[in-house]
Amino acid sequence: MKTVIVGISSSVAAFKSVQLVSDLLKEGLDVEVIETKNATEFVTPLQFSSLTKHKTYVNTFDRVENYDVEHISLAKKADVFIVAPATANVIAKLANGIAEDMLTTTFLACDCEKIIAPAMNTKMYENPITQENIEKLKKYGVKFVEPATGLLACGDEGKGKLASVDDLKEAVLSSLREKKLAGRKVLITAGPTMEAIDPVRFISNHSSGKQGYALAKAAKNLGAEVTLVSGPVSIKEPYGVNTIKVKSALEMFEEVKKHFDEVDYVVMSAAVADYRPKNVASQKLKKSDDDMSIELVRNPDILKYLGEHKTKQKICGFAMETENQLENATKKFFGKNCDLLVLNDLFEKGAGFKGDTNVVTLITKENNEKLEMMSKEELSYVILNKLMEV
Ligand code: CTP
Repeated sequence: MKTVIVGISSSVAAFKSVQLVSDLLKEGLDVEVIETKNATEFVTPLQFSSLTKHKTYVNTFDRVENYDVEHISLAKKADVFIVAPATANVIAKLANGIAEDMLTTTFLACDCEKIIAPAMNTKMYENPITQENIEKLKKYGVKFVEPATGLLACGDEGKGKLASVDDLKEAVLSSLREKKLAGRKVLITAGPTMEAIDPVRFISNHSSGKQGYALAKAAKNLGAEVTLVSGPVSIKEPYGVNTIKVKSALEMFEEVKKHFDEVDYVVMSAAVADYRPKNVASQKLKKSDDDMSIELVRNPDILKYLGEHKTKQKICGFAMETENQLENATKKFFGKNCDLLVLNDLFEKGAGFKGDTNVVTLITKENNEKLEMMSKEELSYVILNKLMEV
């Protein structure tokens, strides 16, 4: 059984940790809780102990009770350590190796995956000192679950609310996932491409990049070295992923070619524009009283090129179809020499560009498998696991 340590520091948000502990136990995990002394003012150790069936640790000198150096034995058995909520004070201590109570001592003694979920006033969060501490911890491989934005306990509005219990749980579960892609290189494309008409106008599409970014994060969580070639999107670059921003299909093609030889897996989730304006006007086009037309030329089909040039690489393509979906997608699968193709149904409820869920059919050489609606995060793991199998 895997063991998770949940460290709790003093924040009003500590009540959410009760739900987190309960949810982790429901996942069949062994959960140990360490509170700072001040956190016990918000939620009592008894409340956690009743759930975990273990003693809730608060003081380092508890070890006197059973002659075992508890912070070391706990640290050794942990598979993942999450501090949620983490105050600015605790983050500062952890970033500087200060070990003065059970939580900070055990954190320093742990060499398992570590996660921190900050919760504090916006100004404290945005303070460069806190940000520097966070960056330092990230540099040493600690993962962060970003705080949410909203009304804070102090009455201010802004970033600093502890992330949702679902996000915290997902962060723990993804850390526990087997590192099936350790030592592997994965190239992912995401988002739309933007084809310039003149200095202010372009042709593009509705792709949000959410699925591609979720894939990049998932591949990273599975231990891969990930390169993400992204068209213009408004999503934060995933932590620990080599993200290369491009605009046009031609730029995406160049970047993909640069990395193709060295990677083991490619997932082409970008919605690449099939055409671009033949001539890009150097000045803004002025209107006249007449209608106008723009001559378009074909962009290279990146996926097709990869299918034709692959050596060791396993390639996953995407297809967005609005009619004869399975028939068209199967043609694409074979026509572009894919190993896996993810068929997106634009009209299905819970599917498509902007949302956080997707409904897809996975097409392989052997068969098609329609999957139930799931989050783009969850689907990313399903896609990557499938790609490793085919
Ligand atoms: N793709 C690509 N290069 C292009 C167009 C698409 O690499 N110029 C890739 C996409 O990233 C996706 C797959 O091809 O993985 C399918 O894209 P889609 O637009 O659905 O298919 P097309 O081949 O463009 O065919 P059509 O637009 O006729 O459906």
